[in-house]
Amino acid sequence: MYYILIGLPGAGKGTQAANLVEKYQIPHISTGDMFRAALKNKTPLGLEAKKYMDRGELVPDEVTIGIVRERLQEDDCKKGFLLDGFPRTIPQAEALDEILDSLGLTLDGVISIEVPEEELIKRLTGRRVCKNCGATFHVLYNPPEKEGVCDNCGGELIQREDDKEETIKNRLDVNREKTQVLKDYYSKAGLLKEVDGTGDFDEVFNRICQVIEGK
Ligand code: AP5
Ligand code: ZN
Repeated sequence: MYYILIGLPGAGKGTQAANLVEKYQIPHISTGDMFRAALKNKTPLGLEAKKYMDRGELVPDEVTIGIVRERLQEDDCKKGFLLDGFPRTIPQAEALDEILDSLGLTLDGVISIEVPEEELIKRLTGRRVCKNCGATFHVLYNPPEKEGVCDNCGGELIQREDDKEETIKNRLDVNREKTQVLKDYYSKAGLLKEVDGTGDFDEVFNRICQVIEGK
């Protein structure tokens, strides 16, 4: 199965993707995670991406498309994938169509997680991530057992640089219109499925699974 998860920053893409790829046993391809991993390893790609990410801007299309193209050519993507946070622009969506075409793959659907902006701001300001394994928590909605410590690996929980309040506003401004244009693109292609992203984690997960399983 070949799906894309889209939604504004904080909609729950990463949270839901982690559970979906476990249930359906497919690779999780998150451009945000790929950039953060590159940055952790201080590669040229990571250092280049950081310039944009810290300000809440999008990394240039040619850079982003390049890393996704490489990733999709790997063998494990033949059995399916869940793209999270890519595409985000029309040039990225068109490039993806071309890449999939060349690989003989067809998208099954594009799931858009819908959450009102005031809720997105609460989710983003309260998010904490593990410095070590990348696991995501929330100070109110999904607190770790011990404050500031990752439940999975004992690593330190930190706030993402782009989750500072001033950057959050810019991220929403940058993504609002682009996300709508992207939704129109996939709606015209008959692939768009909107899912209510409010409510607790399991409720949203069940809604997405129902869409995937065509119920
Ligand atoms: P990326 O990492 O993709 O960030 P984003 O799109 O801004 O999305 P987030 O990770 O902030 O949110 P999410 O939807 O995954 O929410 P989460 O599940 O964590 O990208 C980062 C940057 O990389 C971009 O700004 C850009 O610079 C660059 N980039 C990435 N892709 C790019 C591309 N294609 N082109 C160009 N540049 C690109 O949830 C948020 C919080 O809410 C968590 O604390 C979670 O615990 C909580 N939460 C989740 N669901 C619920 C729920 N149902 N109820 C209560 N709380 C919830
Ligand atoms: Zn951890």
